[in-house]
Parts: sequence; structure tokens; C-alpha cells
Amino acid sequence: MSNKKISIAIDGYSSTGKSTMAKELARRLGYGYVDTGAMYRAVTLYAMRHGIIKDNMIDEPALLASLPSLTITFAPSADGRNETYLCGENVEQEIRTMEVSDHVSAVAAIGGVRRHLVKLQQDMGKAGGIVMDGRDIGTVVLPDAELKVFVTASAQVRAQRRYDELRAKGDTTATLEQVLANVTERDRIDTTRAESPLRRADDALLLDNSDMTREQQNRWLYEAAIQRIDDDHRD
Ligand code: DC
Repeated sequence: MSNKKISIAIDGYSSTGKSTMAKELARRLGYGYVDTGAMYRAVTLYAMRHGIIKDNMIDEPALLASLPSLTITFAPSADGRNETYLCGENVEQEIRTMEVSDHVSAVAAIGGVRRHLVKLQQDMGKAGGIVMDGRDIGTVVLPDAELKVFVTASAQVRAQRRYDELRAKGDTTATLEQVLANVTERDRIDTTRAESPLRRADDALLLDNSDMTREQQNRWLYEAAIQRIDDDHRD
């Protein structure tokens, strides 16, 4: 196998389990991992905390003005999990709440927010040896990534997964119907926004994991990565 470290872009719909797969792949390959959704969530949390989002309205000029002062970083927890920090504060739990989920797509639809975060993500990815997951990684952030994967699953399956995940964390505030509504609404906003809408890159492999176990997905992804790394070596 080549020593050259490639870039891997994993995009797809929300709650397809792509972050979990991407993280596991990065661990197995010894690559870095960037959860770009966490960055949009951190910006959303900041806006909620500072009154920039109020009554479902976003004060865009105030949000754009605050971006340069925000630092968003990742660091492993004691048990090795990647956690998100906003201006030095661990916000990993808070950015996963339904409240943040309800506002994040609207924040991610703002062109100035996207341009700012895309630049940060490109800086994080420029050395290669990275697995990055999101919505526009293969199309905008890392268009030259050697491996691109687009992950999808039915909305019902994704809502059930998200619901189980929230329950496992002790969050019982949302019903399955509410989670399904959130998943469907986020799909709608993510695929129809004017700024880099969610779409499969022409050269992305498609993975529909509706009927796959976590182990099957991990194996599929690892094999796709090894194949690509081998091909890259032969080129
Ligand atoms: O993957 P996630 O559910 O944590 O993403 C949160 C939101 O951020 C989701 O509505 C889509 C948006 N997002 C995006 O627009 N571009 C990315 N690269 C990553 C996430």
C-alpha cells in the first residue's frame, strides 16, 4: 500500500450515520477527521446564545460580523472521541440538541457563513490524510478528493436512528414524528438552498445504507478506501 495519504470526502443526507462511519474510517487508516456539520452547529449555538437568532429570525449582519472572532476546534476526549470546542469551550453535547438541529439548516444556508467555514475546512484538509464529512465536501470543499462517497437512506430509517440516538443520550423531548419532521425539513432546506445545495458529486460512489448494519457499512467504506489508495499508488 502507498504511503501517500489521500483525501476522503463523505457527503450525504442527515442521520445516515455518515459521521460515525467517517470517524471509524479515519481511525482505521490513521487519518485526521473533520466533522463539518459540527462547525455549522457551533456557529448556530453561538448565534442562539448571543440573541442573534430570536423568534426564528436570524440577524445576518450580526452573525457575519461575529464570525472572525469565533474559533472552532476539535480535540479528542479522554476516551478518544473527537469533540467540538467553540472559543475554547467544549460544546459537543450542546450542539447535538434538537434546539440547535432546528436552526442549523437556516444558518448553513447563509452564503457568508458557508464561505467562512469552507475556507477553514480547506485549510484543515490541505495536507491530505483526512476524512471529512458534510454536505458539500466532494463538490465544494475538497473537489479534488481522491475518494468521494455519497451516503443516503430512507427518511424513516434515518429518523428512527436519530430518535434512538437522542433517547440513548437521555433526551426524551422529541417524539419520533417530530424527529421525522426535522429530518425531512432539513433535507428540503439542504437540497434546495441557493448556496452549494446538497448533491452527489458526479464522481462520488453511492452508498444506500437503509438495510446495512454498521459493520457492513464500515467494511464497505474501508474496502473502497483501500482500493482507492492502492489505485493511487499505481497511478
Ligand atoms: O451533519 P449534521 O447533521 O451535523 O449537519 C448539520 C447541518 O449543517 C445540516 O443541516 C446541514 C449543514 N451542513 C452543511 O450545510 N454543510 C456541511 N458541509 C455540513 C453540514
